[in-house]
Amino acid sequence: MARNAKTAHVPTPDVISIKPTRMDFVFGDNVPRHWAFNDPFCTHFMGALSTLFPVGERFFVDSVRALREHVGETVTTQDISGFIGQEAMHSLEHVSMNNMLEAKGLPALKGEKFTLGLLNLGRRILTKRQQLAVTVALEHFTAIIANRLLTDTNIMDNLSDEMRPIWMWHAIEETEHKAVAFDLYQNVPGSSYAERVVFQVVATVILAAVVAAFQVWFMARDKQLFNLKSWAFGLNTLLGRNGVVSGLAKEYLDFFKPGFHPWEHENSALVAYWREKLNGEVAKAA
Ligand SMILES: [Fe+2]
Ligand SMILES: [Fe+2]
Repeated sequence: MARNAKTAHVPTPDVISIKPTRMDFVFGDNVPRHWAFNDPFCTHFMGALSTLFPVGERFFVDSVRALREHVGETVTTQDISGFIGQEAMHSLEHVSMNNMLEAKGLPALKGEKFTLGLLNLGRRILTKRQQLAVTVALEHFTAIIANRLLTDTNIMDNLSDEMRPIWMWHAIEETEHKAVAFDLYQNVPGSSYAERVVFQVVATVILAAVVAAFQVWFMARDKQLFNLKSWAFGLNTLLGRNGVVSGLAKEYLDFFKPGFHPWEHENSALVAYWREKLNGEVAKAA
């Protein structure tokens, strides 16, 4: 297999297995209006992310599936099937969640449609390998956000009981499969460090613009656009000292090292810990 010689491979830790789980979360009328930090901004930030997931994860699946013949020692057919299965389940569950947001009067479905238009443009103008490079870039985001969700208990503690399990479950599985697209990309002929980082920059700019636009859109629909207290609290939570986004800077930038590999952030111990907690949450909700 043609591997980019500069990129080190760090094997997936033995404790990790990449298996899809069907959750069938139900989001009823009892979900509070502001289910994250009891705050509109934080709720709509996470809602905006959820709006991206169903169509985004379908794009990830398609880009991996299109080049799955490049499996090898570092990434197996089983890993690919696990990745596809997990992302397909995430799409389904976030569809349920987004339908709940829509029922609350938020523009989740229009947001999905807009995102799909953007991704379809990518499908038209990018090669299969470049589409996989976009997936690799965005999977880095999901991996570092997931790590933050699983290490900063203040975030989990401030989600309502109805909403905590889906984020817990999604963060666990994003951690489990965080290297699959990356390792596959390394095997694709013509893949390079330069291409990987160029698409990271492009993906970052587009993601930031879309999330910011959705944030404003959701706040406006919720009649919270001029809730300055919420903007101040939310922006500080995201971008203040060690904020949810600003605190990711180091891990984000690690992607730009030529020898970077997702498992050099060795956080596999979080998976077993949170799987057990998730089982407890699901049992409590049943
Ligand atoms: Fe996912
Ligand atoms: Fe993922």
